[in-house]
Order: sequence, then C-alpha cells, then structure tokens
Amino acid sequence: MLKGRHLIDPQDFSIKELESIFDLTERIIESPEDYNSICHGKILSTLFYEPSTRTRFSFEAAMLRLGGSIIGFSEPGSSSVAKGESLADTLRTVGAYADIIAMRHPKEGAPRLGTEYCPVPLINGGDGGHQHPTQTITDLFTILQAKGRLEKLVIGLCGDLKFGRTVHSLIKAMSRYEDIEFLLISPKELQVPDYIRQEILIGKGIPFREVERLEEVIGELDVLYMTRVQKERFFNEADYIRLKDSYILDRDKLLIAPEDLVILHPLPRVNEISPEVDDDPRAWYFRQVKNGMYVRMALILKLLGVK
Ligand code: NCD
Repeated sequence: MLKGRHLIDPQDFSIKELESIFDLTERIIESPEDYNSICHGKILSTLFYEPSTRTRFSFEAAMLRLGGSIIGFSEPGSSSVAKGESLADTLRTVGAYADIIAMRHPKEGAPRLGTEYCPVPLINGGDGGHQHPTQTITDLFTILQAKGRLEKLVIGLCGDLKFGRTVHSLIKAMSRYEDIEFLLISPKELQVPDYIRQEILIGKGIPFREVERLEEVIGELDVLYMTRVQKERFFNEADYIRLKDSYILDRDKLLIAPEDLVILHPLPRVNEISPEVDDDPRAWYFRQVKNGMYVRMALILKLLGVK
C-alpha cells in the first residue's frame, strides 16, 4: 500500500510497488481522459527552495491533469521562509492546507527530516547532491519502455557523477535488479562519492568500471545516461570552467555506438549533448521528459490512495 507514504529515497518503495506505479503510468498514457477529474478537490503543494523547470512544472501539470489544484512557491524568498520560519513549521503549515507536498531543497537530508513534521505525504523533488527519486522512477519507466526490461543491462553514466543526484538515485535504484553492470564515465575529480562506490557498488558486488573517455566504452552500452556538470555545487568557478565541457555527445561519437543504445538525460542540458543528436532515434530524453509527468500523475494517485 502506497497510500499515505512519503517518497524520499528511491529505495523507499519495493520493486513490486514500483511496478504498480509503472502499470498505472501506462494506463494513464493509454487513456488520460479517464483520469482528468479524479483528483477534483485535492491540493498539491510544491515547495521549491532551488531552481527547477521539469520537476516543479511536471508535478503541477500532473495534478492539474488529474483535476486537482496547486499551491506553492518557486522562490522561498516570497514566503515566510524569508522571515526565518523553520522547515518544520513550513511543512506543518502547508500540510494543513494541502493533501500532498513535493519539495526541493539544497540541503541533503532536509526532506527526510521533513517527514518528521509533515502531516501529509512528502515527496523529495531533489535534495542537494543527494537523491532525486521521482526523476529515477521516470528513468526506470523510460528504460523499461525502451528496452522492455530492467535486468541484464550495461548502463553508462557520464559527466558529473560526484554532485549529480540523479546519478546517485539511479545507481541506487538499478542496483536492485539482476545482472546490471555500470560503466562510470567522468573526469577523476567528478567520480561517484565514496558511499556510492563502497556501500552500493562494492557492497552489493555489482560489476563496475570507472573510465575517463566516453569513446572507450560507448560501444558496450545498452543505456547512456548523460548529465550536466552541476555548476551550483562547485566551490570554485575555475574548476567548473575547466570541467564543464569534459563530454560532448555528438554524431561522430554515435557512429561507434550500438544501434539500440538508449540515450537519457535528466535535463537541463548545457553542452553535453549536441542538438544534432536530438533527431537520432536513440535519443530518448524528450520522451523521458514527458514520461516524467505521467509517472508523477501515477505517484500522486498512489500516495493519495485515489482509485
Ligand atoms: C536534475 C536535477 O535537478 O537534479 N534535473 C531534473 O530534475 N530533471 C538534473 C540537473 O539539474 O542537472
């Protein structure tokens, strides 16, 4: 039962529970009109303490397409946060008005702490460089749609593996499926954090390799997950400038990639995928964006227990 639960970490839901979300997502995609007033009278609140386009709008569009309403802020400066209100009090207050809350926060662990005070289901829309579970459910759904399976896959993650929360969440989530191998493609300075390497990859005995050149491994991949260098999490501008264009996926690199490669990106992209790749049938990132809204529709229905 997902009714009344929070979603903070990709492993908060079992594989079976995720499958129930994928099934409902598919049903919504097949006949969205059957769902367009099912959340009438319900309110979603989006509390975004960090910039966002996809995550916030897709949550809001999801609730509006279910016939519900939305309240929230995209700038904490326009709310009582600017007066010094604590996260606990903001969540208690908004939880008195809304039926479900999606929150993005720059501090890692803030949403987990928030669950202690939030009287309604709280969804983590990204906490610092930590986790981003709704992006991950979207990624899993898209991989399933493209490949027909979540097992037996060689997954390349490329770019900023140190600060990219979507990367950490995806590794955590995929580590539960059989026969997964990761190829981690990044400059030395942007390799995955030690807890991911030790606790998840080594701890669970999952095969992985850390390499610096995309060309070296692109031919072996089933899925290539490109990511943006996370400018806002760098301490020093010079390092960002030096590393920001480490990888650019273009047509030339795709010449040596498998015919059935699936290219994903959580977006926003900066330079890491050249626009000439967008028309390639292997580019799935705009389908992934759209899936994100449908997945969030399914998630809202499940957490609210709306049938
Ligand atoms: C990502 C995020 O915010 O972590 N964007 C998203 O939610 N789709 C990725 C990023 O900002 O690079």
